[in-house]
Amino acid sequence: MQAANRQTLRWIPVVFVLFPILILLGAFMRSVQGGVLSNLEAWFYPAMTLHGVGMVGVWYVASMAIVADLLTRYVQPSPAVSSFALWGTVIGVVLLLVSVFIGRYAAGWYFLYPLPFKGEWPAWSNVVFLLSLTVLGAAWLVWTLDLLRAIARRYPLAQALGWHYIAGRSEPAVPPAVLIATVSLISGVAALVSAVILMVLFFAEMFAGVANDPLLMKNLTFFFGHTIINLAMYRAWPPPTRSCRTTRGDPGRPTGSSRSRGMRCC
Ligand code: HEM
Repeated sequence: MQAANRQTLRWIPVVFVLFPILILLGAFMRSVQGGVLSNLEAWFYPAMTLHGVGMVGVWYVASMAIVADLLTRYVQPSPAVSSFALWGTVIGVVLLLVSVFIGRYAAGWYFLYPLPFKGEWPAWSNVVFLLSLTVLGAAWLVWTLDLLRAIARRYPLAQALGWHYIAGRSEPAVPPAVLIATVSLISGVAALVSAVILMVLFFAEMFAGVANDPLLMKNLTFFFGHTIINLAMYRAWPPPTRSCRTTRGDPGRPTGSSRSRGMRCC
């Protein structure tokens, strides 16, 4: 068992605090649906919005923290960027709470265009909600790019993607965790860039009166949302692949290291 690095340890309380609160919101919604708390029905959709965005967000950052932790075994991500991502996440969550609890924002985790402009919530709560997603998206994009930068400093892209294996070469050995991280981080960049474009279009309509194409807005929203939640699930894979080592050792670690010897498999 190897200790997690300090950066990773800072993310653990974020997940352990937010997850139970979000579960309570889920239980609250079920209670409203079951008629136990029917007097709080007006809070159902704000709670659903916070629960949906929160659950997806919390597991996304958890998956990023896992990837970052694994990568520190092989490459050197920037601790400053990790802190930036943590504070960006905290600020994004605070903005989300303001929009939902004070503004009663209730467009749901899909916030499907043009619903954000049509609800009963005040216009400012829509601005704060979209600002929250902008801050979260920008912080996670910078974090993702930094992890890719760290990988690129040690492994050229073709190696990090394992293309030399396809060409029939077995050297250099690339740790499976690096390969999976690279693929998932590149997909993450695509998803987060799509989110940034989406936010720009929302703000363009809000402040410059530019009318948006509903189909484009829907596609950007789904591409961003579905990709990040899928990535959160796929990133559960690198830890098992890393503990599945062969007698050839753990590629990427110095030979002779006590961690690189012997057969240990999940
Ligand atoms: C463990 C306890 C959980 C409970 C009791 C719960 C309950 C609920 C309920 C009642 C809804 C509203 C469904 C409706 O439209 O009627 C909902 C929506 C949702 N839940 Fe959960 N949930 C839980 C866990 C999770 C987890 C672990 C995730 C993701 C990792 C998640 C993600 C979502 C999403 C994305 C929505 C849709 C929100 C929207 O449409 O805006 N939930 N949940």
